[in-house]
Amino acid sequence: MNAFTIKLLEGVTCRVNGLNKFSLQLHSVWSEILLATVDIDHRQQFTESCYSNSSEYYVSAKHMKLFDWEMEVIDEYFPKAPARILIGGCGRGREVLNFLKMGYEVICFDPCTEFITDMQLHIKDKHILASLKCTYEDLIDDDSIVEQFAPFDAFLFGWGSFAHIMDNNQRDEILRVAKRICPNGPIVLSWPRVAGFEVGPKTKALRSILEFIGLDNHKSDDSYHRDSGFVKTLNNEIVSEMAKRTGYTAHFPKIENSYPFAVMT
Ligand SMILES: C[S@@+](CC[C@H](N)C(=O)[O-])C[C@H]1O[C@@H](n2cnc3c(N)ncnc32)[C@H](O)[C@@H]1O
Repeated sequence: MNAFTIKLLEGVTCRVNGLNKFSLQLHSVWSEILLATVDIDHRQQFTESCYSNSSEYYVSAKHMKLFDWEMEVIDEYFPKAPARILIGGCGRGREVLNFLKMGYEVICFDPCTEFITDMQLHIKDKHILASLKCTYEDLIDDDSIVEQFAPFDAFLFGWGSFAHIMDNNQRDEILRVAKRICPNGPIVLSWPRVAGFEVGPKTKALRSILEFIGLDNHKSDDSYHRDSGFVKTLNNEIVSEMAKRTGYTAHFPKIENSYPFAVMT
Protein backbone atom coordinates (compact mmCIF):
# COMPACT_ATOMS: atom_id res chain seq x y z
CA MET A 1 0.00 0.00 0.00
CA ASN A 2 1.41 3.41 -0.79
CA ALA A 3 1.42 6.46 1.45
CA PHE A 4 -1.15 8.23 -0.74
CA THR A 5 -3.71 5.40 -0.36
CA ILE A 6 -3.23 5.36 3.41
CA LYS A 7 -3.64 9.15 3.67
CA LEU A 8 -6.74 8.96 1.49
CA LEU A 9 -8.26 6.21 3.65
CA GLU A 10 -7.42 8.14 6.82
CA GLY A 11 -9.11 11.24 5.38
CA VAL A 12 -12.25 9.35 4.38
CA THR A 13 -12.29 7.65 7.78
CA CYS A 14 -12.39 11.05 9.52
CA ARG A 15 -15.42 12.05 7.41
CA VAL A 16 -17.13 8.68 7.91
CA ASN A 17 -16.53 8.87 11.67
CA GLY A 18 -18.47 12.14 11.73
CA LEU A 19 -21.38 10.43 10.00
CA ASN A 20 -21.02 7.29 12.09
CA LYS A 21 -22.70 9.07 14.95
CA PHE A 22 -25.90 8.82 12.94
CA SER A 23 -25.48 5.46 11.32
CA LEU A 24 -24.17 2.30 12.90
CA GLN A 25 -24.61 0.54 9.60
CA LEU A 26 -22.27 2.93 7.83
CA HIS A 27 -19.71 2.25 10.54
CA SER A 28 -19.98 -1.53 9.95
CA VAL A 29 -19.62 -1.14 6.20
CA TRP A 30 -16.64 1.18 6.51
CA SER A 31 -15.02 -1.18 9.06
CA GLU A 32 -15.31 -4.03 6.55
CA ILE A 33 -13.79 -1.86 3.82
CA LEU A 34 -10.85 -0.93 6.03
CA LEU A 35 -10.34 -4.53 7.16
CA ALA A 36 -10.22 -5.57 3.51
CA THR A 37 -8.03 -2.70 2.34
CA VAL A 38 -5.44 -1.82 4.98
CA ASP A 39 -2.63 -4.37 4.96
CA ILE A 40 -0.98 -5.59 8.16
CA ASP A 41 2.06 -3.31 7.72
CA HIS A 42 -0.15 -0.20 7.85
CA ARG A 43 -2.66 -1.18 10.53
CA GLN A 44 -0.54 0.25 13.35
CA GLN A 45 -0.35 3.64 11.63
CA PHE A 46 -4.11 3.57 11.22
CA THR A 47 -4.69 2.61 14.85
CA GLU A 48 -2.53 5.55 15.92
CA SER A 49 -4.59 7.98 13.86
CA CYS A 50 -7.86 6.55 15.29
CA TYR A 51 -6.64 7.18 18.85
CA SER A 52 -5.35 10.65 17.98
CA ASN A 53 -8.74 11.64 16.57
CA SER A 54 -10.85 10.06 19.31
CA SER A 55 -12.24 11.92 22.29
CA GLU A 56 -12.82 8.62 24.16
CA TYR A 57 -9.58 8.78 26.10
CA TYR A 58 -9.55 12.42 27.18
CA VAL A 59 -8.17 13.01 30.65
CA SER A 60 -11.04 13.19 33.13
CA ALA A 61 -11.55 12.02 36.68
CA LYS A 62 -13.53 9.04 35.36
CA HIS A 63 -10.89 8.08 32.85
CA MET A 64 -8.03 8.36 35.30
CA LYS A 65 -9.27 5.81 37.85
CA LEU A 66 -8.05 2.23 37.97
CA PHE A 67 -10.70 -0.43 37.40
CA ASP A 68 -11.62 -2.61 40.38
CA TRP A 69 -10.16 -5.69 38.67
CA GLU A 70 -6.86 -3.88 38.09
CA MET A 71 -6.65 -2.99 41.80
CA GLU A 72 -7.26 -6.62 42.76
CA VAL A 73 -4.54 -7.78 40.36
CA ILE A 74 -2.06 -5.24 41.73
CA ASP A 75 -2.84 -6.35 45.29
CA GLU A 76 -2.48 -10.02 44.48
CA TYR A 77 0.41 -10.15 41.99
CA PHE A 78 2.49 -6.96 42.04
CA PRO A 79 5.52 -6.36 44.26
CA LYS A 80 4.90 -3.68 46.85
CA ALA A 81 6.07 -0.11 46.17
CA PRO A 82 8.67 1.16 45.68
CA ALA A 83 9.27 -1.16 42.74
CA ARG A 84 9.97 -0.43 39.10
CA ILE A 85 7.08 -0.88 36.68
CA LEU A 86 7.11 -0.73 32.87
CA ILE A 87 3.76 0.33 31.39
CA GLY A 88 3.19 -0.06 27.64
CA GLY A 89 0.23 1.39 25.72
CA CYS A 90 -0.06 3.91 28.55
CA GLY A 91 -2.32 6.31 26.63
CA ARG A 92 -2.92 9.54 28.55
CA GLY A 93 -1.53 8.00 31.72
CA ARG A 94 -4.44 6.44 33.62
CA GLU A 95 -2.38 3.56 35.02
CA VAL A 96 0.80 5.68 35.18
CA LEU A 97 -0.81 8.29 37.47
CA ASN A 98 -2.15 5.64 39.84
CA PHE A 99 1.11 3.70 40.08
CA LEU A 100 2.97 6.94 40.79
CA LYS A 101 0.45 7.80 43.52
CA MET A 102 1.08 4.39 45.08
CA GLY A 103 4.82 5.15 45.22
CA TYR A 104 6.06 3.03 42.29
CA GLU A 105 8.79 4.06 39.83
CA VAL A 106 7.32 4.19 36.35
CA ILE A 107 8.71 3.99 32.83
CA CYS A 108 6.00 4.15 30.20
CA PHE A 109 5.48 4.34 26.48
CA ASP A 110 2.80 4.77 23.84
CA PRO A 111 2.90 5.31 20.07
CA CYS A 112 0.43 8.18 20.12
CA THR A 113 2.30 11.52 20.37
CA GLU A 114 -0.79 13.43 21.58
CA PHE A 115 -1.28 10.97 24.43
CA ILE A 116 2.31 11.17 25.64
CA THR A 117 2.34 14.97 25.45
CA ASP A 118 -0.98 15.23 27.28
CA MET A 119 0.16 12.84 29.98
CA GLN A 120 3.34 14.80 30.59
CA LEU A 121 1.21 17.94 31.03
CA HIS A 122 -1.26 16.34 33.41
CA ILE A 123 1.18 14.41 35.56
CA LYS A 124 3.74 17.20 35.78
CA ASP A 125 3.74 17.27 39.58
CA LYS A 126 4.88 13.63 39.75
CA HIS A 127 8.18 12.22 38.51
CA ILE A 128 7.99 9.66 35.69
CA LEU A 129 11.43 8.08 35.13
CA ALA A 130 10.80 8.09 31.37
CA SER A 131 7.84 8.43 29.01
CA LEU A 132 8.64 7.35 25.49
CA LYS A 133 6.92 7.39 22.14
CA CYS A 134 7.16 3.84 20.85
CA THR A 135 5.25 0.63 20.16
CA TYR A 136 5.66 -2.94 21.42
CA GLU A 137 6.92 -3.73 17.94
CA ASP A 138 9.69 -1.09 18.33
CA LEU A 139 10.78 -2.82 21.55
CA ILE A 140 11.06 -6.13 19.71
CA ASP A 141 13.36 -4.48 17.14
CA ASP A 142 15.45 -2.71 19.78
CA ASP A 143 14.87 -3.20 23.49
CA SER A 144 17.78 -0.86 24.33
CA ILE A 145 15.06 1.86 24.36
CA VAL A 146 14.05 0.63 27.82
CA GLU A 147 16.95 -1.66 28.74
CA GLN A 148 18.83 1.18 30.46
CA PHE A 149 16.02 1.14 33.07
CA ALA A 150 15.87 -2.66 33.43
CA PRO A 151 15.36 -4.93 35.28
CA PHE A 152 11.67 -4.16 35.87
CA ASP A 153 9.72 -5.64 38.76
CA ALA A 154 6.51 -5.84 36.69
CA PHE A 155 5.43 -5.16 33.11
CA LEU A 156 1.88 -3.95 32.57
CA PHE A 157 0.52 -3.94 29.05
CA GLY A 158 -1.87 -0.97 29.41
CA TRP A 159 -5.58 -1.68 29.24
CA GLY A 160 -6.39 -3.63 26.03
CA SER A 161 -3.17 -2.64 24.30
CA PHE A 162 -1.81 -6.19 23.88
CA ALA A 163 -4.51 -6.79 21.25
CA HIS A 164 -3.11 -4.00 19.08
CA ILE A 165 -0.11 -6.19 18.21
CA MET A 166 -1.52 -7.49 14.96
CA ASP A 167 1.20 -9.93 13.96
CA ASN A 168 0.87 -13.34 15.66
CA ASN A 169 4.65 -13.92 15.91
CA GLN A 170 5.22 -10.49 17.37
CA ARG A 171 2.94 -11.18 20.33
CA ASP A 172 5.22 -14.13 21.16
CA GLU A 173 8.29 -12.00 20.55
CA ILE A 174 7.25 -9.21 22.93
CA LEU A 175 6.67 -11.81 25.67
CA ARG A 176 10.24 -13.03 25.10
CA VAL A 177 11.49 -9.44 25.39
CA ALA A 178 9.40 -9.10 28.57
CA LYS A 179 11.17 -12.15 30.03
CA ARG A 180 14.56 -10.54 29.41
CA ILE A 181 13.78 -7.12 30.86
CA CYS A 182 11.41 -8.23 33.62
CA PRO A 183 12.76 -11.68 34.56
CA ASN A 184 11.04 -12.12 37.92
CA GLY A 185 7.98 -9.93 37.85
CA PRO A 186 4.44 -10.52 36.65
CA ILE A 187 3.43 -9.55 33.11
CA VAL A 188 -0.18 -8.39 32.92
CA LEU A 189 -1.99 -8.18 29.61
CA SER A 190 -5.58 -7.59 28.60
CA TRP A 191 -7.65 -7.56 25.45
CA PRO A 192 -11.12 -6.42 24.41
CA ARG A 193 -14.09 -8.73 24.57
CA VAL A 194 -15.08 -9.34 20.97
CA ALA A 195 -18.45 -10.80 20.07
CA GLY A 196 -16.99 -13.87 18.29
CA PHE A 197 -16.36 -14.94 14.77
CA GLU A 198 -20.04 -15.15 13.69
CA VAL A 199 -20.84 -12.75 10.86
CA GLY A 200 -24.27 -12.04 9.41
CA PRO A 201 -25.35 -12.63 5.77
CA LYS A 202 -25.00 -8.95 4.80
CA THR A 203 -21.41 -8.79 6.06
CA LYS A 204 -20.64 -12.09 4.32
CA ALA A 205 -21.99 -10.70 1.05
CA LEU A 206 -19.96 -7.50 1.43
CA ARG A 207 -16.80 -9.51 2.14
CA SER A 208 -17.38 -11.60 -0.99
CA ILE A 209 -17.74 -8.46 -3.12
CA LEU A 210 -14.59 -6.93 -1.61
CA GLU A 211 -12.66 -10.15 -2.21
CA PHE A 212 -13.98 -10.34 -5.77
CA ILE A 213 -12.54 -6.91 -6.55
CA GLY A 214 -9.19 -7.92 -5.03
CA LEU A 215 -9.51 -6.31 -1.58
CA ASP A 216 -8.64 -9.37 0.45
CA ASN A 217 -6.64 -8.22 3.47
CA HIS A 218 -9.44 -9.20 5.79
CA LYS A 219 -8.42 -11.57 8.57
CA SER A 220 -11.40 -13.16 10.24
CA ASP A 221 -9.95 -12.70 13.72
CA ASP A 222 -9.21 -8.98 13.32
CA SER A 223 -11.71 -6.27 14.03
CA TYR A 224 -11.76 -2.52 13.61
CA HIS A 225 -13.34 0.18 15.74
CA ARG A 226 -13.40 3.89 15.00
CA ASP A 227 -12.02 4.90 18.43
CA SER A 228 -9.35 2.25 18.80
CA GLY A 229 -8.42 1.08 15.30
CA PHE A 230 -7.37 -2.48 14.49
CA VAL A 231 -7.62 -5.14 17.17
CA LYS A 232 -6.75 -8.84 17.22
CA THR A 233 -9.33 -11.20 18.69
CA LEU A 234 -7.79 -13.04 21.64
CA ASN A 235 -9.11 -15.42 24.28
CA ASN A 236 -7.82 -17.47 27.21
CA GLU A 237 -6.97 -20.44 24.99
CA ILE A 238 -4.91 -18.42 22.55
CA VAL A 239 -3.10 -16.67 25.40
CA SER A 240 -2.43 -20.01 27.20
CA GLU A 241 -0.80 -21.38 24.06
CA MET A 242 1.26 -18.23 23.74
CA ALA A 243 2.40 -18.61 27.36
CA LYS A 244 3.46 -22.23 26.76
CA ARG A 245 5.49 -21.26 23.68
CA THR A 246 7.29 -18.47 25.53
CA GLY A 247 7.95 -20.20 28.85
CA TYR A 248 5.31 -18.57 31.05
CA THR A 249 2.47 -19.84 33.19
CA ALA A 250 -0.73 -17.94 32.34
CA HIS A 251 -3.18 -17.24 35.17
CA PHE A 252 -6.74 -16.11 34.47
CA PRO A 253 -8.06 -14.99 37.86
CA LYS A 254 -11.86 -14.80 37.96
CA ILE A 255 -12.85 -11.29 39.00
CA GLU A 256 -16.38 -9.99 38.65
CA ASN A 257 -16.89 -7.45 35.83
CA SER A 258 -13.27 -7.70 34.76
CA TYR A 259 -11.99 -7.10 31.28
CA PRO A 260 -10.46 -10.24 29.72
CA PHE A 261 -6.92 -10.40 31.08
CA ALA A 262 -4.03 -12.70 31.99
CA VAL A 263 -1.22 -12.59 34.50
CA MET A 264 1.93 -14.29 33.18
CA THR A 265 4.49 -15.52 35.70
C1 LIG B 1 -7.44 1.19 25.14
S1 LIG B 1 -6.11 2.33 25.09
C2 LIG B 1 -5.62 2.31 26.79
C3 LIG B 1 -4.86 3.52 27.19
C4 LIG B 1 -4.46 3.55 28.69
N1 LIG B 1 -3.65 2.41 29.04
C5 LIG B 1 -5.70 3.59 29.54
O1 LIG B 1 -6.02 2.58 30.14
O2 LIG B 1 -6.34 4.64 29.60
C6 LIG B 1 -4.83 1.37 24.29
C7 LIG B 1 -3.51 2.11 24.09
O3 LIG B 1 -2.63 1.26 23.35
C8 LIG B 1 -1.83 2.08 22.51
N2 LIG B 1 -1.30 1.23 21.42
C9 LIG B 1 -1.87 0.97 20.23
N3 LIG B 1 -1.07 0.19 19.49
C10 LIG B 1 0.03 -0.06 20.24
C11 LIG B 1 1.24 -0.79 20.02
N4 LIG B 1 1.43 -1.45 18.90
N5 LIG B 1 2.19 -0.78 20.99
C12 LIG B 1 1.97 -0.13 22.15
N6 LIG B 1 0.83 0.58 22.43
C13 LIG B 1 -0.11 0.62 21.48
C14 LIG B 1 -2.78 3.16 22.05
O4 LIG B 1 -2.10 4.32 21.57
C15 LIG B 1 -3.60 3.42 23.31
O5 LIG B 1 -3.06 4.45 24.07
